[in-house]
Amino acid sequence: MAVNLLLGLQWGDEGKGKIVDVLTTDYDIIARFQGGPNAGHTLIFDGYKHVLHTIPSGIFHKTAVNVVGNGVVIDPVIFKKELDNLSQFTIDFKSKLLISRKAHLILPTHRLLDAASETAKGKAKIGSTLKGIGPTYMDKTGRNGLRVGDLEMNDWQEKYENLTEKHLNMLAFHGIELEYNLVELQKEFDEGIKRLKELTFIDSEEYLNNAMKNGKSILAEGAQGSLLDVDFGTYPFVTSSNTTAAGACTGLGIAPNKIGDVFGIFKAYTTRVGSGPFPTELFDEDGATMARVGHEFGATTGRPRRCGWLDIVALKYAVQVNGVTQLMMMKGDVLSGFDTLKVCTSYTYKGEEISHFPFNIEPENVTPVYSEFKGWSEDLTKMTTKEQLPQNLLDYIEFIEKEVEVPIKIVSVGPDRKQTILR
Ligand code: GDP
Ligand code: IMO
Ligand code: MG
Repeated sequence: MAVNLLLGLQWGDEGKGKIVDVLTTDYDIIARFQGGPNAGHTLIFDGYKHVLHTIPSGIFHKTAVNVVGNGVVIDPVIFKKELDNLSQFTIDFKSKLLISRKAHLILPTHRLLDAASETAKGKAKIGSTLKGIGPTYMDKTGRNGLRVGDLEMNDWQEKYENLTEKHLNMLAFHGIELEYNLVELQKEFDEGIKRLKELTFIDSEEYLNNAMKNGKSILAEGAQGSLLDVDFGTYPFVTSSNTTAAGACTGLGIAPNKIGDVFGIFKAYTTRVGSGPFPTELFDEDGATMARVGHEFGATTGRPRRCGWLDIVALKYAVQVNGVTQLMMMKGDVLSGFDTLKVCTSYTYKGEEISHFPFNIEPENVTPVYSEFKGWSEDLTKMTTKEQLPQNLLDYIEFIEKEVEVPIKIVSVGPDRKQTILR
């Protein structure tokens, strides 16, 4: 059976956690393929709200097996906290949560290096979540990293100490004053490692390919969004992994010809947290309304998210890079009450109108060109069928489908699992 992918088409926080949870009833296995605790995936059901960072969003379903793939970076400290937060549920983690031996580990000193790097950048800082993501992926590609499988080897302690010492030298080289207590950090880390070792480690590429051969259905869960991809995002204001469809192949060991549907998630408007260009960003009352009604605060860091109109140029780009076959539109309910909605359909780039996503979208090069739509005033949050959706919303949806040439199959009208309309 083919593997379906679900990934974000904007700058993250599109609602991936919610939709993976909704779709899990149709899958045997949910597998995260990249990113780490920089992600914050929110699930709301039966009056519970949960934010997952590294654990796949299928964890609340009785039968699904959740796999943390080789492309993910794991911080044992945060991972332990995530597990502790789920203690009220009776989840058999040993059989329901499997960890790839090839996933890289975030050391306490990776977090310190992240902080030092951001401080050194000053005004040019990326706005990282400071979870150590960049330094850990740098060690991975620099061939210095430590992996989950190393925990099972005799020389783990020696490897850990060597890498930590290397990091401390790098920190000294940065010359940035950071306050930290290494003894405390290592104690916390050791406790995290101890908890992690209670879980099941697997050769995940073998596990997943065998599962496919045996007819199991797999959904691969992405983190971040396509515009944060290290190759195709708004570099250097990106994360350090491939968030796009190709990342699922390398992050799980699944061949490209095994990919089936690619579900692309986007908000009916746009948000971004952290630094970097954002052509349709609003600095007015409309942006403030989106932020207020949409509760636009980061699920991992609590930072306010920047808000703006939907950018179809960027959306088309993301659809193309990922080969999206079905779209899911989130948070349409947040736009209820706007008289007029704007959608960016092209850019003026260095004085010329273009309809593709160019090399550089900094404001000095790019100005958005907008089309306007009549808004709707109806409250969508209680609606349960597509027939109830207001005509102006349907016009908005149909316009997007025509522009992007991919059908919108799910319209989400609230954060709860139940507030999901199929088309
Ligand atoms: P993720 O990182 O892609 O999983 O998304 P986040 O969880 O970081 O952010 C999405 C936020 O929007 C969360 O607070 C969700 O509970 C919420 N949310 C998801 N879908 C909807 C929706 O359709 N309407 C509203 N109002 N909120 C939603
Ligand atoms: P989910 O999976 C939104 C952003 C950070 C920063 C940049 C680099 O919840 O959609 P990093 O910590 O990776 O070095 O940060 O990427 N970022 C996210 N923004 N949602 C996320 O994940 C993000 N993960 C990282 O804000 O701008
Ligand atoms: Mg998020």
